[in-house]
Parts: sequence; structure tokens; C-alpha cells
Amino acid sequence: MTSYVNESQMASSKPIPERSLRTTSVILIVDDDHNGREILAALLRPYHYELLFASDGYQALAMAQVHTPDVILLDVMMPGMDGYEVCQQLRSIPITAEMPVVLITALDDRDSRLQGLRSGADDFISKPVDAMELQVRVRTITRLNRYRLLVDERRRAEQIALQAAAELTHAYDRTLEGWVRALALRDVETEAHSQRVTALTIQLAEQIGYPQERMTHLWRGALLHDIGKIGIPDAILLKPGKLTDGEMDVIRKHPEYAYNLLYPIAYLHPVLNIPYAHHERWDGSGYPRGLRGDAIPLEARMFALVDVWDALCSDRPYRKAMSTAYAERELQDHAGILYDPELVPIFIQMMHQRKPTS
Ligand SMILES: [Fe+2]
Repeated sequence: MTSYVNESQMASSKPIPERSLRTTSVILIVDDDHNGREILAALLRPYHYELLFASDGYQALAMAQVHTPDVILLDVMMPGMDGYEVCQQLRSIPITAEMPVVLITALDDRDSRLQGLRSGADDFISKPVDAMELQVRVRTITRLNRYRLLVDERRRAEQIALQAAAELTHAYDRTLEGWVRALALRDVETEAHSQRVTALTIQLAEQIGYPQERMTHLWRGALLHDIGKIGIPDAILLKPGKLTDGEMDVIRKHPEYAYNLLYPIAYLHPVLNIPYAHHERWDGSGYPRGLRGDAIPLEARMFALVDVWDALCSDRPYRKAMSTAYAERELQDHAGILYDPELVPIFIQMMHQRKPTS
């Protein structure tokens, strides 16, 4: 009786590596007849395949699941379980369902071949086996099989990479939201304000056809717009009364603080425009750089409108919320002075079309 495992395995006692890690193709030869197995083995040995042997259908099914060969050469006429039944069983087991199976048969009639196809066989080789035919068939199948495995492996690797990237992005964004909450805890601004201005900025960006692939950066930038206020001392930031000129100078440093905080973090480079430039004004009267007109990044020009609108339309400790009509006039009166004159009408129209939230 032929050995259950091949000679090289017995010598090294090493398990056959997983399919995707193999450097050579593994072939399982199934034949109840010792000579039948040896004939196939002798023809294939020169090509350096890993050869495994099974002498009946039960062994074949067990070995196929354990070793996942690249191809199975399966004799049809075997006692107990014949090749057709082995093939059917292989197709019903998930791990072997797609395994290439070549039936080795002396039966050359049409009905036998049809029965083989119905059992799920991929190919046939007639007995007596022709050396060249066997080598070409096996090589073709193992190549195709390896190619498919490579493609599957690459697809799996891509999916893993995509999932890892998505998880990382999720973790980044939850971290950013944590920063905003930390800022809100200092009573600088409410979390609700941050969420509102972020949502409005995204909506305005959609109105003007802002590139979709940059929306995430825009979202992060809007969310982090005042993150620089982390660097402002409590005595100034939380001062209930009017600020002195010196204190206002300190407040005006928050965009630069934001830049210094975010710039060393590579994935936040694309979000800097809002935190760094949201207090720049169209006529150059803003800070910190006194940028003018189109020199102000578009993201910051959009955000400036949204921020002032939300500030005017919200209750403040020292005043009640203004009407939307008042906020609208404020923007119109300062279009081309403080705010981008092209964006102002688009924003106002967008707010008109917006459904009331409560
Ligand atoms: Fe600010």
C-alpha cells in the first residue's frame, strides 16, 4: 500500500504550508492501485511537484481537506467509493469545493465523461496515460489555480488594508471629536455650535461643487476651527467682562496656536485652512496674516460666513439670538468687505431653502 503522505514530507516531518505560501504546486494522486499511483508519480516527479498519495476515496477526502492540494488526479474505478462519488463529495465541502479535479479513466465513452462532468470534474485524462498530455494538463491547471490564488490573495490583502484604513480613519475622527469636546468643557463654545457650523460648511461646499474627495478634510477643519483656543489662558478666555486690547491680542493668537498644534500631524495638513485662516477677512483686515480676497483659502471664506451666521443667530450670555433677517443683512452689508461677495448670495439662498430644524 502506498504511503498516506509523500516521502519528502515523511523525511522532513514538516506540514505542507498554507496554499498562498507555497512555492511549489501540490498534487494529490488518488488510485486504489499501487502501480497506477506510481505511474503518475514517475511521470510528474521530474517537474518538482509535491506529490501526495491516497489509496481510496475516504483517504482522498481527508487529505484534500488537510493539505488543500492544487490539483487532484482522481482514478474513477475504485472499490467502495468511486471517483465520481469522491468528486461529488469534494464539491459539497466548502474548503474543497473549488479544488481542481482531473479524472483518470479508462472509460472513454460519452456517458462516462458526462457522468464525470455532472460529478464536478474539471478535466479528464485517459488511461493509458500519455506523459506529455499529463504534464501539460497538470501544468495548465496548476498555473491557472496559482494565478487565481494570487488574485484572491491580493484581493484579500486589499480588503484588509481598506478595512484597516477605515478603522484608522474612524479612530482619528473620534479623537478629533474628543479634542472638540475637551475644548467645549472649558466653556469656549458648545459642542452643538461646532456640529452646527460643521454641517453648514459642508452644505455650503456642496452648493458650490466643492470636490467630494476633499469633504472629509473640510469636515475635520470645520470641527477643529477654534482648537487653537486651547492655548489661551482661562483668565482671558473665560473673562466675563470686556477684554482689553492686550487681551484681544492674545485671543487673536488662536489661529497660530491651531497651526502650531496641527501642522506636525501629517494627516491634518489638509485641514489647516479653516483653523488657521477662519478670521481672515476679504478686505485684508483679518488676522493672523491679513490675507485679502482670493488669497484667503476657499475653505476659510466659506467657514467665515457660516461662523458669523451661527454666532448672530445663537443666544449669547450678553444678548439673545438675532433674527435670521438681521444676520442676512449683516452678511449682505459686508459682502465684498469682510466676506467673499460671490459666496454671500449663495449662502443666503441656501439658508432660505433650508427647512426649519424645529
Ligand atoms: Fe476662531
